[in-house]
Amino acid sequence: MSGTQDFINQNKDRFLEELLDLLRIPSVSADSRHKADVKRAAEFIQTKLTEAGADRAEIYETKGHPIVYGEKIVGSNVPTVLVYGHYDVQPPDPLDLWDSPPFEPVIKKTDIHPEGAIFARGSCDDKGQMYMHVKAFEAMMAGGELACNIKFIIEGEEEVGSDNLEIFLEEHKEMLANDIVLVSDTGIIANDVPSITVGLRGLSYLEIEVTGPNRDLHSGLYGGAVPNPINVLSEMIASLKDEKKRINIPGFYNDVLELTAEERAAMARAPFSLEAYKKSIGLSDVEGEEGYSTMERASIRPTLDVNGIWGGYTGEGAKTVIASKAYAKISMRLVPHQDPDKITELFQNHFESIAPPSVKVKVTPHHGALPAVTPTDSPAYLAAAKAMKETFGKEPVPFRGGGSIPIVALFEQILDSKTVLMGFGLDSDAIHSPNEHYGVFNYFKGIETIPLFYKYFAEMK
Ligand code: BES
Ligand code: MN
Ligand code: MN
Repeated sequence: MSGTQDFINQNKDRFLEELLDLLRIPSVSADSRHKADVKRAAEFIQTKLTEAGADRAEIYETKGHPIVYGEKIVGSNVPTVLVYGHYDVQPPDPLDLWDSPPFEPVIKKTDIHPEGAIFARGSCDDKGQMYMHVKAFEAMMAGGELACNIKFIIEGEEEVGSDNLEIFLEEHKEMLANDIVLVSDTGIIANDVPSITVGLRGLSYLEIEVTGPNRDLHSGLYGGAVPNPINVLSEMIASLKDEKKRINIPGFYNDVLELTAEERAAMARAPFSLEAYKKSIGLSDVEGEEGYSTMERASIRPTLDVNGIWGGYTGEGAKTVIASKAYAKISMRLVPHQDPDKITELFQNHFESIAPPSVKVKVTPHHGALPAVTPTDSPAYLAAAKAMKETFGKEPVPFRGGGSIPIVALFEQILDSKTVLMGFGLDSDAIHSPNEHYGVFNYFKGIETIPLFYKYFAEMK
């Protein structure tokens, strides 16, 4: 691998500068005001794939944001790797909590990243991690060592549910045919504890509107005598969990895959410090479903959380008012074998059934995602583990992640493809939060590890 690794070493400054350029494009998929920026990010990827040596790199328009597809076919006797990533990012709000503007990347040292970290929206999720693959591809081409066929599918709608990518998979099964999907959009446990994610949670996301009186009312004239939608919504939400923090929706746990005692014991062996966990997020104590550890609560157990709640008067000072309406956004993280559509329906029926007759309740489903598990005994997993062992100097530990990547289960359903989740981010990198960052160490570790995956996968297949 020396040609490839030499090329990486000689081009580090440029590889970093190019990522900073990509991070300057505010490709926020959820915000229609950024539609042109999202497109610009797609064009950036297309150009870089072409420059790196792709046979072709194209932009496919969709009903939403474009998909970038690129490929380099080196032969019919070698395996094909489909690289998936996303170039869209979460909205940067709240802006005033950023130490530097979200789309003006800066590199700063932190305790966890003594070699510096890139601070910008999308630096870790997922532009930084996705771009490692573009640069690894360039390096393998330059080194004359690309051992597999490579296909890239880089989308602009992951953060809004990947609806159009699902359609694209259905329509381009042959073009996307592969032996393995390779994704860097997850994390490792720590920079000295390499790991490979072997499971993702699913998601059901809903919005609720509770309507009481037909207009906002004086809380002195009417208070105490009429339903207050904010009170009602709070009581309804509070009733969704019991005293053991189990979710109270009938049927919610019916399909949940319970882990065996051995599987739970294996999980418990992964390095994890509850003290460090609490300290890193400023908590004096944790809470969650009775009978499960913090790591289990955040990976193998389903959840129900309010992501936003609003209504009434929230401006300066006090206004005495009973609002006409109250709202909330609710997410449920799902585990194998829960089905997001079924869970959404269970929630909707239950929530409507517990509403007092004095109010009207409207539940609107947003996007969902299926949970996913990936094998640990496949050539692809073993190739990833061998590659990481070589670059980190330590065998990676398999672990289940708590987040969701909607398309992963669909790669299996639509393309009959398995996925390897070889991510390099850290939980402390603040993805989706103000001051998101990505370690310079992690960026280059990824670029160095990826070519080894191709080498070992080609050998093992
Ligand atoms: N890359 C994340 C998911 C992730 C992060 C998985 C870290 C495991 C570890 C992805 O971009 C994401 O944020 N997904 C969304 C789902 C989507 C439907 C909005 C999520 O998990 O909230
Ligand atoms: Mn992501
Ligand atoms: Mn994300």
